[in-house]
Amino acid sequence: MKYRRLGKTELKVSIIGIGTWQFGGEWGLDYSQKEADAILDKAKDLGINLIDTAECYGDHLSESFIGSYMQRNNRQDWVLATKFGHHFHERFKRTEEWTPQEVVKQLEASLLALKTDYIDLYQFHSGPDEAFDNDEMWNVLNKQVEAGKIRHLGTSIGKNDNIHQTEASSKVNSQAIQVVYNRLDRAPEERVFPTCIEQDLGVLARVPLASGYLSGKYKPGAVFDETDVRHRHDREATLQKLQEVERIEQQEVPQGMDMAKWALAWCLKHPAVTAVIPGCKNADQVTINASSVDLVSTNHPQDWKD
Ligand SMILES: NC(=O)c1ccc[n+]([C@@H]2O[C@H](COP(=O)([O-])OP(=O)(O)OC[C@H]3O[C@@H](n4cnc5c(N)ncnc54)[C@H](OP(=O)(O)O)[C@@H]3O)[C@@H](O)[C@H]2O)c1
Repeated sequence: MKYRRLGKTELKVSIIGIGTWQFGGEWGLDYSQKEADAILDKAKDLGINLIDTAECYGDHLSESFIGSYMQRNNRQDWVLATKFGHHFHERFKRTEEWTPQEVVKQLEASLLALKTDYIDLYQFHSGPDEAFDNDEMWNVLNKQVEAGKIRHLGTSIGKNDNIHQTEASSKVNSQAIQVVYNRLDRAPEERVFPTCIEQDLGVLARVPLASGYLSGKYKPGAVFDETDVRHRHDREATLQKLQEVERIEQQEVPQGMDMAKWALAWCLKHPAVTAVIPGCKNADQVTINASSVDLVSTNHPQDWKD
């Protein structure tokens, strides 16, 4: 594994992390603790120390799987990133909750589910600018930082060119940006990444496999089960993405190379990107995803130096 400094948080993170939206049951599978453990065990074996989860991947369900694993596997060795701002009701149904009181309540629920007394990175979960611009919310969160319940604050921007929230990060003491970035969607390169570099924000590239489409295993016309979030994607947009993936596979991916491995390494080459957080369905995917470090050279501005 290779490690980088998550911007000014100074956290040492593996460049391949694990996204765990999948544990919440919205990707066509309901997970058991044993299945979640197998993914996290494989991550640990391969030197991965970064896990991204959220309050609404199930009703704190993904956090709860991770918390139970952490109880048996040295919590202090991991960097746990979770989020606030939503309440999960049932599959694909959430409501938003941004008042300072609601946010503190969510923090306590996340700590309980994660079975820990601190969160390494607590992220504003893709909320609107009006919610982000509430200073009272950030004041309350910064008090929780002082109290030691949160080590660092971050922002997961919804639209991946949200320059408003990215530019305002340092002002509210948000030290990392989570953003959709992959070979099919390069929008952050234009405005978001330059200000991340200028402010020394850590950057977590989410959806780095374009929801799995960039793995190359789906062909144009692919259909998904209705319990899989991809069933809800716009059909025409998915068709175009899958056609573009075929072109990329032929013209850009070296022959014989696993395309998921290639796609993750592609994201990690940008000087603003600290780590990728691919969602993983099983331990084999963790192994392939971790192997993309072989394609990443060590001349990145955030390379970890002991
Ligand atoms: N608003 C937010 O803050 C927000 C929103 C979205 C995601 N996220 C975070 O970002 C993480 C990653 O995003 P994502 O899970 O939506 O998309 P993603 O990482 O682009 O795609 C994940 C999917 O790709 C497939 N996959 C993974 N590794 C593979 C491999 N080696 N070979 C072939 N297929 C592979 C799996 O699905 P199949 O095997 O079924 O194809 C997996 O569920 C999430 O888990 C979550 O932690 C945050």
